[in-house]
Amino acid sequence: MNLKDDLSKILIIDFGSQFTQLIARRVREFGIYSEIISHKKINKKLNKKKINGIILSGGPLNVYQSKKVKFNNEILKWNIPILGICFGHQVISKELGGKVKKAKNREFGLAKLKRLNKSKLTKNFFSKSGTNNVWMSHADEVTKLPKGFRVIAKTDTSKFSIIENPSKKFYGIQFHPEVSHTINGKKIIKNFIFSICKMRRNWSSKNQKYVLTHEVKQMVKKSKVICALSGGVDSSVVAKLIHNAIGKQLTCIFVNTGLLRKNEEHQVIKTFKKKFKLNLIYVDAKKIFLNNLRNIKDPEKKRKIIGNLFIKIFEKYAKKIKNVKFLAQGTLYPDLIESKSVTGSQTSKIKSHHNVGGLPKKMKLKLVEPLRFLFKDEVRKLGLELKLSKDIVLRHPFPGPGLAIRMPGEITHSKIKMLKEADEIFINGLKEHNLYNKIWQAYAALLPVKTVGVMGDNRTYEYMCLLRAITSEDGMTADFFSFSKKFMQLVSNKIINNIKGINRVVYDITSKPPSTIELE
Ligand code: XMP
Repeated sequence: MNLKDDLSKILIIDFGSQFTQLIARRVREFGIYSEIISHKKINKKLNKKKINGIILSGGPLNVYQSKKVKFNNEILKWNIPILGICFGHQVISKELGGKVKKAKNREFGLAKLKRLNKSKLTKNFFSKSGTNNVWMSHADEVTKLPKGFRVIAKTDTSKFSIIENPSKKFYGIQFHPEVSHTINGKKIIKNFIFSICKMRRNWSSKNQKYVLTHEVKQMVKKSKVICALSGGVDSSVVAKLIHNAIGKQLTCIFVNTGLLRKNEEHQVIKTFKKKFKLNLIYVDAKKIFLNNLRNIKDPEKKRKIIGNLFIKIFEKYAKKIKNVKFLAQGTLYPDLIESKSVTGSQTSKIKSHHNVGGLPKKMKLKLVEPLRFLFKDEVRKLGLELKLSKDIVLRHPFPGPGLAIRMPGEITHSKIKMLKEADEIFINGLKEHNLYNKIWQAYAALLPVKTVGVMGDNRTYEYMCLLRAITSEDGMTADFFSFSKKFMQLVSNKIINNIKGINRVVYDITSKPPSTIELE
């Protein structure tokens, strides 16, 4: 994504980690421009004039899979500071003469790091006692230091957790400083950018609005665009951004899948058609979606069916509008990485996000996805820059496949009805108790399990409702929110007393990872 060739940058070389974009985002947070490039695309032709530092990402490979790991060691001769993270640490260690082996004990999750030496890279990173909790995810480890390097910190299982060659400005770290579980992880990135690469701030969220509007204009020119509007944060921001860029060339299409939150369709029409006066077509496709999803239990099949139906509907309306060339979508970076890698490296597939993995191969429209490299909070900032209301911009995220993936097992009309009611009770409860804005995302789900209860003096045998509320920075990792017993009791009682068919409420207390935010 060569947005700006004239800006000094940190080049991030991607080996397929789930977290590569998180590294880019951390760099952006410090007001520094960065670009990501696949490790397969490093060659002599690369313009290195504006590269002030290089970060090598982690990745699912091991350094001995030599066919897959094309590491062009050219970069080691460029005289540019390098920070290798996880796999990146192992790959430079090996290239510079160290040794990497399968670790006796794999390390996944939190590990205690102990400082052995001081380094510019770790200024203000360790606690006073010289320790820190860091997040690890590796099966291999560096077992022999490359020549000219020294060790800065270790854990009980990996003795070269941070290493450096300060004269060459090469640094390697086994853990992930970019994830929020690593305490003070941002300090490492900050030290690398400012103390080691000596960069100056050159990027802000205002640049984001300008660059993205310009990108859309360049790409679309005089063509017509249709936009998949759902009323959620992402598609609302996309619609407004594109409307600002190309005005009447844009038509928004809002599909009522029957899998939306309660009353959502009315709110969308009111806001976008009446208030913003965007071209908006409302498609009532409740029956089509429900018919196609009948008896489908497999989560990936549900996602694919929904994705394909969406696209068919868009294509149909595009034909009616005539000469439409582009389909705009609010795909964000986390949607992309969890479906496939953006940079062509080897990221493992977790879920097919409906607006990515579900696309038919022969789609006749080209995609415009201006938010594809942004995270949710960056989209929210952009939304406010675009003068969207706080109600829209601060709304909890809602997945494209909607309630279908909050209802494991079969999807039926009566289940959808129960789920809409339960979700509304929970969300209203959060708003009434001033909890909504403290939570990144909350929802009710309906589990395909019936359990026995007793109401009045009668036995009941009904469904179980699961509540999920998480805090997160970006949707990549998440923690469950701690409610008071009083609040949980209140919501649980209200759900059971008001919704026929539910006799038990449970609260999901898993984090992400190991769970995901949605159930499917
Ligand atoms: P997971 O469940 O993958 O969710 O941890 C991460 C975030 O993404 C949302 N999500 C989706 N958004 N299309 C979307 O537009 C999808 O197919 C989709 N699946 C999950 C989810 O609600 C959470 O905010």
